[in-house]
Amino acid sequence: MTENLAGVAWLGTGLMGAPMACQLIKAGYRVVVWNRSLDKAKALLELGGDVAESAERAVAAADVVFTMLSDGETTAKVLGKLDYAGKTVVQMGTIGPRENQSIAKQIAASGGQYLEAPVLGSIPEAKSGKLIIMAGGKENVFEQVLPMLKCIGPEPRLVGNVGQASAMKLALNQLIASLTVSFSTSLAFAQEYGVNVEIFMQILRESALYAPTFDKKLAKMQTHDFHNPNFPTEHLIKDIKLFSREATQIDTGVLDELLRLYQSAQGSHMREDYSCVYEAVAKRV
Ligand SMILES: NC(=O)c1ccc[n+]([C@@H]2O[C@H](COP(=O)([O-])OP(=O)(O)OC[C@H]3O[C@@H](n4cnc5c(N)ncnc54)[C@H](OP(=O)(O)O)[C@@H]3O)[C@@H](O)[C@H]2O)c1
Repeated sequence: MTENLAGVAWLGTGLMGAPMACQLIKAGYRVVVWNRSLDKAKALLELGGDVAESAERAVAAADVVFTMLSDGETTAKVLGKLDYAGKTVVQMGTIGPRENQSIAKQIAASGGQYLEAPVLGSIPEAKSGKLIIMAGGKENVFEQVLPMLKCIGPEPRLVGNVGQASAMKLALNQLIASLTVSFSTSLAFAQEYGVNVEIFMQILRESALYAPTFDKKLAKMQTHDFHNPNFPTEHLIKDIKLFSREATQIDTGVLDELLRLYQSAQGSHMREDYSCVYEAVAKRV
């Protein structure tokens, strides 16, 4: 155990939160975890974490409070109206820029500091401490928690104020949503005409149109198996809605179509991988 490290509360040990909290435990931080479904938090006991039965108790014991919860409403509710005097809150889930700004005010009002630090990458990167971290907030707050962030991602970057990192994250997730639908549509069309999929992929890979995500999702689409998701469809739907809601100066018409397709796929695939949108696009192929 490394000595004199800050006490950490980790709120939310879902698919991403659990492996991310593990990185801090492995680095020697005293981590108290809390999760609504307590069994998921208890899984971290054997790795050396402590478990609190309420978020309040976890926060009371900590200098730095991390959140990795599903959405903005949940994050605001869980953080609640506790006393954050002298504490720093690091919000790492994907929530809206304005939601982050509102929570930052809530934390500041009780004497705390706030950093948004959404991540790009998924469960494999969370397990290996290789997430891409985009932070928004004050430089001194970023510097304070940088050693912790480096346990979770090798090169955390301060990209601006609170709201700007989450805007960047949503911009990138819009690409996830649209690239996956684009690829599904071209793949399904090629299949409709009996094109050999491997030759289609070979030519795509040689072209400027290729994105690595296509190969990552191809096997799932080909086998129609979307189990064991890294990123469940319900979260991508949340992000498409968030993008549309938070964008005020751009045409988001394409987002309406993306939402329609992901929603029509999610019926039986809510907690499955978002690449299940292929099922909605391909229909009978
Ligand atoms: N999965 C990815 O690849 C990925 C990548 C980057 C960013 N993200 C973002 O990171 C965040 C977490 O994602 P995840 O994949 O870890 O999701 P997840 O497995 O669904 O975890 C969601 C977490 O939020 C908690 N939660 C949900 N509703 C709650 C409520 N009403 N009250 C208290 N706690 C509640 C869950 O508790 P329970 O366990 O009790 O349900 C769980 O701890 C999301 O914002 C997601 O968009 C995900």
